[in-house]
Amino acid sequence: MQVSVLDGPGKLRVEERPVPTPGPGEVLVRISSVGVCGSDTHYYREGRIGPYVVEEPLVLGHEPSGEIVELGPGVSSRLVGQRVSLEPGIPDPLSAESLAGHYNLDPAVRFFATPPVDGVFAEYVVHPAAFCHPVPDHVSDDAAALLEPLSVALAARSAGDVGLGSKVLVAGAGPIGLLISQVCRLAGAAVTLTDVREERLELGPRYGAAQTFTAAEMPASGDAYPGGGYDVFIDATGAEPAILSGPQRLAPRGRCVLVGMGADSIALPVPLVQGRELTITGTFRYANTWPTAVELAAQGLVDLDGLVTSHHTLKDVEGALTAGAKPGALKAVVRP
Ligand SMILES: NC(=O)c1ccc[n+]([C@@H]2O[C@H](COP(=O)([O-])OP(=O)(O)OC[C@H]3O[C@@H](n4cnc5c(N)ncnc54)[C@H](O)[C@@H]3O)[C@@H](O)[C@H]2O)c1
Repeated sequence: MQVSVLDGPGKLRVEERPVPTPGPGEVLVRISSVGVCGSDTHYYREGRIGPYVVEEPLVLGHEPSGEIVELGPGVSSRLVGQRVSLEPGIPDPLSAESLAGHYNLDPAVRFFATPPVDGVFAEYVVHPAAFCHPVPDHVSDDAAALLEPLSVALAARSAGDVGLGSKVLVAGAGPIGLLISQVCRLAGAAVTLTDVREERLELGPRYGAAQTFTAAEMPASGDAYPGGGYDVFIDATGAEPAILSGPQRLAPRGRCVLVGMGADSIALPVPLVQGRELTITGTFRYANTWPTAVELAAQGLVDLDGLVTSHHTLKDVEGALTAGAKPGALKAVVRP
């Protein structure tokens, strides 16, 4: 099979490798679509993200869909020919975190395209059957792949306890912020979406935002909702100015959810957090989100295909990883 391999910053090549054999509890999946995430781009450009450094050749890509082509020993829960969305992180099922239900926080989790674990810019991959979630035939290959960023959005909604009537401010109208907006709207919230790029905000209404503002035009606390600020602020930028201004716009007892990555330590506004009794939390990926994500896609309640702005082959992974710089680009998809 063909595999796209990253040797170091900016160094990609296609390599022939043997098709892997599924072990006990695993299935062999022929990959259909793989969404490109900002983390893939970071590894490609800089060869590292924080403590994770590309020291050996690494296969990128962690948002895959595909079709099961072979069952490993003991697998009776899945069928050959079944189309699936792959959940990319495999935890130790006996870790304290897995037993407590938040398996995403298992420190030993093996996650696609996080050194030294290979990802899925490849024709085939073996994966535990339990982490290959069946999708109905009317859900496209691309949409099945993008259940991964949808899961990030579901985890954000859950962390913010967003529900009927919640007033939610979302910073960042990239794929993650747009999906957070859509999921919060589905939960019954009134969503305000901000970005520094005007053209990204044009998609806001389609993804459930009741109002959109550029960061510079965003009204001060209380102005957007007379009588109080927002119930929930969700950051999907990782940008310090957005993270610092969000909590200022929260009503008393408001909740701040940090999803965006990239910012380092930021000074905590202690009097604000105390005076309004704010809750600040973060999210790290997701746990137990796929059943809901599959259902939302199956019912046509989320627009995943609308996020895809370009397709690429395995030979053009470089094009996929640099597509984000083009005007109007949102989500590149590799189709091995
Ligand atoms: N917590 C997690 O588990 C998790 C998982 C996936 C992605 N992420 C993070 O989520 C973030 C969003 O991902 P994405 O793929 O949508 O990225 P993206 O870069 O496409 O979108 C980020 C958006 O934020 C906007 N932005 C920048 N500064 C801003 C500001 N001051 N105010 C308002 N908007 C601003 C940018 O213009 C851009 O449109 C990234 O930081 C990514 O690393 C976190």
